[in-house]
Amino acid sequence: MAQLWGGRFTKETDQLVYNFNASISFDRKFYREDIEGSMAHVRMLEATGILTEQERDEILAGLEGILADVESGELEITAEYEDIHSFVEANLIDRIGDTGKKLHTGRSRNDQVALDMKLYTRKEIDNLKALVRELLFVLHNRMKEHLDTFMPGFTHLQKAQPITLAHHFGAYMEMFKRDYDRLCDIYERMNYCPLGSGALAGTTYPLDRNMTAQLLGFKGPTLNSMDSVSDRDYVIELLSALSTIMMHLSRFSEEIIIWNSNEYRFVELDDAYSTGSSIMPQKKNPDIAELVRGKTGRVYGALMQMLTAMKGIPLAYNKDMQEDKELTFDAIDTVKGCLALFTGMIRTMTVNKSVMEQSAKNGFTNATDAADYLVNHGVPFRDAHGIVGQLVLYCLEKGISLDDMTLEEYKQISPVFEQDIYDAIRLETCVEKRETIGAPGRTAMEQVIALNEAYLAKLP
Ligand code: ARG
Repeated sequence: MAQLWGGRFTKETDQLVYNFNASISFDRKFYREDIEGSMAHVRMLEATGILTEQERDEILAGLEGILADVESGELEITAEYEDIHSFVEANLIDRIGDTGKKLHTGRSRNDQVALDMKLYTRKEIDNLKALVRELLFVLHNRMKEHLDTFMPGFTHLQKAQPITLAHHFGAYMEMFKRDYDRLCDIYERMNYCPLGSGALAGTTYPLDRNMTAQLLGFKGPTLNSMDSVSDRDYVIELLSALSTIMMHLSRFSEEIIIWNSNEYRFVELDDAYSTGSSIMPQKKNPDIAELVRGKTGRVYGALMQMLTAMKGIPLAYNKDMQEDKELTFDAIDTVKGCLALFTGMIRTMTVNKSVMEQSAKNGFTNATDAADYLVNHGVPFRDAHGIVGQLVLYCLEKGISLDDMTLEEYKQISPVFEQDIYDAIRLETCVEKRETIGAPGRTAMEQVIALNEAYLAKLP
């Protein structure tokens, strides 16, 4: 049991207490960030005259050695240390002797762990952004492919009005663009360095916090030492953004599952992204989409846990905050996995264009357009609504669609109908007439695709 704080104690910690308190099993995940933070700290300590050049160089060489040995697997991070900070410091002292004991000058584990968590989260935000970006590109390409793939648009999961698959994909494009922007916002807001805040009240050493911040790529130092060591807002913001990403992925998954079902057959998932059944040879299951949907709760759980953990914590650091790590790491890894797989699934999925189109035709999705036709011929909308209702009833009884009715049949219900009704209710016409920005008509869609193209071109 290697502890940094044994001096004041007269007996050993109980083993169960030690185990309960220790965080090495999970904070080992940011050993790299811990070492990078220490390196910046040591450079600053030398620049401000707190360490000599020689001491700085010895410590830096020691830290570099530890990093290299951990990366190569030569040095194992074991449970014999309480946390990753103790592991690094103890190993440093083993390697370079007493100079290693100077590393922790002007620093506490409170500002150290605040820094490590920020560095780790910041790096992962970049990884997450890259994955969302990948998904945006795939969606963008699939939109361009499906500008004239007609399908029913739904409300209440009932066929409503005709749209195109490009338009449907475009809805998700907007959601994931917002997700991407949210990640960027969080990065900007969190990008201030807590190191140098000490345990809670700064330090008496003449630290140069601007320098440390700059060395670690932050915009500047944080401005209140108590807030610095107890702020986990950025973790909550990230978990909230991740929950929203999962909510979007889950809604999309639900649709893919429905579209891929035997009844719908709108799409077919690629073999590489489906699984079979151990007993039913005919099955091809959308497990990836189901798992993404299922894992959403796990990420929401992390957000709730973090909000709850933080709500009763008096200033400044309290050990409750150690609970910020496991679920956050899990949420980040979960979302990364889901994004990568989901993107591949969408990229490789086959679209059954004719099935989608047929479904739009059979579901009276052009009923609103038939009513609009009457309105354009002077019939008040409420009356038009009633007349088209009768048409639909008539079709349902005969098992046909509006397009299949003869002009005589139309005229029996309303004499206003003429031959041009057929053109007015063609799927193509119904979609093409919707030309306001944001609507599924081709011109409107092309404008949006051009805007998306410009958006994607600017993404870092
Ligand atoms: N393992 C701790 C954490 O994750 C590190 C900070 C410890 N600080 C303290 N005062 N015990 O929060």
